[in-house]
Amino acid sequence: MIMKPDDMCSLFALRHSVRQFSNQEVDIKDIGAINKAGLSAPCAMGHHASHLFVFHKDEDGYKKLINLCSKDDGQDVFYGAPVIILETVDENSVIPDKDGAAVIENMLLAASFLGLGGCWINSPVNVFNNNGKALKQIDVPAEYKVIGAVAIGYQKEQ
Ligand SMILES: Cc1cc2nc3c(=O)[nH]c(=O)nc-3n(C[C@H](O)[C@H](O)[C@H](O)COP(=O)(O)O)c2cc1C
Repeated sequence: MIMKPDDMCSLFALRHSVRQFSNQEVDIKDIGAINKAGLSAPCAMGHHASHLFVFHKDEDGYKKLINLCSKDDGQDVFYGAPVIILETVDENSVIPDKDGAAVIENMLLAASFLGLGGCWINSPVNVFNNNGKALKQIDVPAEYKVIGAVAIGYQKEQ
């Protein structure tokens, strides 16, 4: 598909960080498409080393993730988003942070293209890296490196 430059720029300009989410359910197919977009990102030396873990608000894993990442004052760093996608890379990545950032940007753009809101969340990096024990609590292999997370949901009406 070839787009006109103005149309293409408008599409990218639509993306912005969303930090207030409605209760509207997110279609699992949309989450699949967002993951696929993320994993289509370029990666150093073609080593596809990213792994995406999806947490849905009705599941126990989601609550564990929220509790582990909450600030001391109890503030939810994921803004109550109904879906959180945590990105990790394994030992095959030669430039983990850059591989990882490309994946997250693709996911944020994909969410926006689908009419969903998203926000890049950095806090899991500080919580989980060098803390295999905490990673195991959310069923992520202890040796994986956490790159960040994307909070996803429909934007709350202003
Ligand atoms: C590496 C990185 C880490 C970020 N971490 C957070 C975060 O932890 N929490 C948050 O609310 N926003 C986070 N953001 C989102 C930025 O605050 C946001 O992209 C920036 O203010 C520009 O706004 P825009 O996304 O609406 O264009 C992060 C963005 C990047 C690129």
